[in-house]
Amino acid sequence: MTDAAKRGGRTIDVAVFGAGRIGRIHAANLAQQPGVRLKYVVDVNREAAAALAEQHGAQVADIDGAMGDASVGATVICSSTDTHADLILKSAAQKKHVFCEKPVDLTLERARACAEAVEKAGVVCMIGFQRRFDPTFSALKARLDAGEIGTPEMLVVTSRDPGAPPVEYIRHSGGIFKDMLIHDFDIFRWILGDEAETLHATGSCLSDPAIAEAGDIDSTAVTIRTKRGRLCQINTARRAAYGYDQRFEVLGSAGMLQAGNVRPTGVVAYSKTAVSSDVPEAFFLERYRAAYALEIAHFFDAVTNGKPVRTTVACRSGDAFVARRARGADRRVISFDVR
Ligand SMILES: NC(=O)c1ccc[n+]([C@@H]2O[C@H](COP(=O)([O-])OP(=O)(O)OC[C@H]3O[C@@H](n4cnc5c(N)ncnc54)[C@H](O)[C@@H]3O)[C@@H](O)[C@H]2O)c1
Repeated sequence: MTDAAKRGGRTIDVAVFGAGRIGRIHAANLAQQPGVRLKYVVDVNREAAAALAEQHGAQVADIDGAMGDASVGATVICSSTDTHADLILKSAAQKKHVFCEKPVDLTLERARACAEAVEKAGVVCMIGFQRRFDPTFSALKARLDAGEIGTPEMLVVTSRDPGAPPVEYIRHSGGIFKDMLIHDFDIFRWILGDEAETLHATGSCLSDPAIAEAGDIDSTAVTIRTKRGRLCQINTARRAAYGYDQRFEVLGSAGMLQAGNVRPTGVVAYSKTAVSSDVPEAFFLERYRAAYALEIAHFFDAVTNGKPVRTTVACRSGDAFVARRARGADRRVISFDVR
């Protein structure tokens, strides 16, 4: 049976909020889902909304227009971080299922309010932690869970962007821990299957003084001890000259599993002086192309078939908690107990 048939022959109308980098990806992916139609694009930048709407035969609407249309069954929230909670609460009030980009909110209190609202409304709410859908990362996780390296003991995560986003984006992002490391905290919780007990974080602004002027840092080193005594190290940078560097390795009692970078091609060139291959994929839109498609398919599968989503608003509150505490006032050395 096709998904459209499983949806009882009914089409799910969707409103996308935010026609920026990630909104364009999710709009294209959801438009590919059988039985799903992009009805509205909403963006405070009307030109961006119009361009995306035209691409998919959708209409431009404002927030109230899209939320007030009872035929809209689901919202896909891809707008700036500081708008997420309001849009989740509005979606829940209108009994619309929600897919929302990370982070849920910049405060734990508002994130929890969102979790309560969607639970009360009985709607599906999935948060965009796409790394759990990445074919390489999920294959590693499956092998870890199958016991291939025994008991996991230590995780080392390297997460470096090729370059920083515009300073204007950074200003509204909530800072590097909530904007960027939230993905690495998600990897940590997912791979080690454990929660942080102690966390030490330090950071610095090394690539662009404008980031410091905006009140943020661009490089971090984080060490976590879990409740079961497992260890995790995360290093992140907003700049890596060679591309988007996304790797991690898990040391277990019987071996190690590594998830390496993905490259545009697998060609390796051998010469008299060097052996070389492509640098890693340019950035997240390329690196996680498959993951973004799989997570949107997972969301509509959950909406249609009443299945649980893998990245819920409730479990994400844990990441928000770690990220909030990691943002110390002096932004130099932060050490605390997260119990
Ligand atoms: N999961 C991921 O890999 C990933 C990647 C990138 C961004 N994100 C998240 O997605 C969100 C958007 O990021 P982006 O990189 O696409 O940013 P962006 O700046 O490219 O796009 C954001 C868009 O939201 C619009 N907007 C702002 N306020 C709005 C409102 N009230 N209603 C409707 N639209 C509004 C802006 O005009 C802009 O077009 C952020 O929260 C970010 O953390 C997640």
